[in-house]
Amino acid sequence: MTSIPRLGLGTWQMGDYRSQRDDEIAALRTGLDLGFPMIDTAELYGTGIAETLVGEAIAGRRDAVYLVSKVLPQNASRAGVVAACERSLRRLRTDRLDLYLLHWAGDHPIAETVAGFDRLVESGKIARWGVSNFDVHELDEMAGVAGGAKCASNQVYYNLAHRGVERRVAPWCRARGVVVQAYTPLDQGRLATSSAVKRVAARHGVSASAVAFAWSARDAGASSVAKSSRPDRVRELAAALTLTLTDDDLRELDAAFPRPTRDGPLETV
Ligand SMILES: NC(=O)c1ccc[n+]([C@@H]2O[C@H](COP(=O)([O-])OP(=O)(O)OC[C@H]3O[C@@H](n4cnc5c(N)ncnc54)[C@H](OP(=O)(O)O)[C@@H]3O)[C@@H](O)[C@H]2O)c1
Repeated sequence: MTSIPRLGLGTWQMGDYRSQRDDEIAALRTGLDLGFPMIDTAELYGTGIAETLVGEAIAGRRDAVYLVSKVLPQNASRAGVVAACERSLRRLRTDRLDLYLLHWAGDHPIAETVAGFDRLVESGKIARWGVSNFDVHELDEMAGVAGGAKCASNQVYYNLAHRGVERRVAPWCRARGVVVQAYTPLDQGRLATSSAVKRVAARHGVSASAVAFAWSARDAGASSVAKSSRPDRVRELAAALTLTLTDDDLRELDAAFPRPTRDGPLETV
């Protein structure tokens, strides 16, 4: 797979409790069975255990998954990024990532991180690289370093209740072909209780979380990752794969969750 898929499953807060391990693996496998083409993870999650769980969930079906992981800023020196990726690949039991992101901007110069990413692309260990939680000033700095224009994606906090990226970050990315990938599209489950989202969901015969998920990747070329450790909820989320929101739906959701009218700093979870 070369282009970044529209919808995928996340793994934050997986790997934290051993007692949940079987459910977490089952949730990811259910997602793949239902047609989710992408899994998002990070060396941070469960301090590596989430990647190990993903490795188990995708065993025997690596080619059917677009695999995303992230390097921590403190590991993102030129050599550090290569070493961190190799550790992630071992935990994931694969020889390559489809997309590798800098989790957030840190102290290592972005030029060093990009040089590390370039080495990983050259050696075939990653297909593409991107960033996460980058505000416009960080994107500008990245775009100014050698190879910075090859950034494929910026993964950011984006959902109906948190639309700040629509003001400056998303237009910056769109103008340069950088895919905006939403994280926390369910606002950690809170959007499932919204009456406006529930009304739209009832019209389509799907769950409110499926509506929130589909909304977060409604634009052409957009992408989003949502998480559940429960196979039943992953089944509900899978309705987003085929859900098309109508103009009336979008108007109703806009009225309940208006776009911000002022610029502000990028929000993170
Ligand atoms: N780059 C970054 O800095 C960053 C930051 C945050 C997240 N992410 C990525 O984005 C993914 C998604 O974000 P997220 O996990 O923060 O939030 P989310 O997908 O918005 O919501 C996940 C939470 O919602 C709950 N949930 C799922 N379905 C639900 C439903 N139908 N009703 C009520 N609650 C429901 C889940 O609980 P159960 O598991 O118990 O169902 C989980 O606690 C993460 O897993 C991670 O891969 C990246």
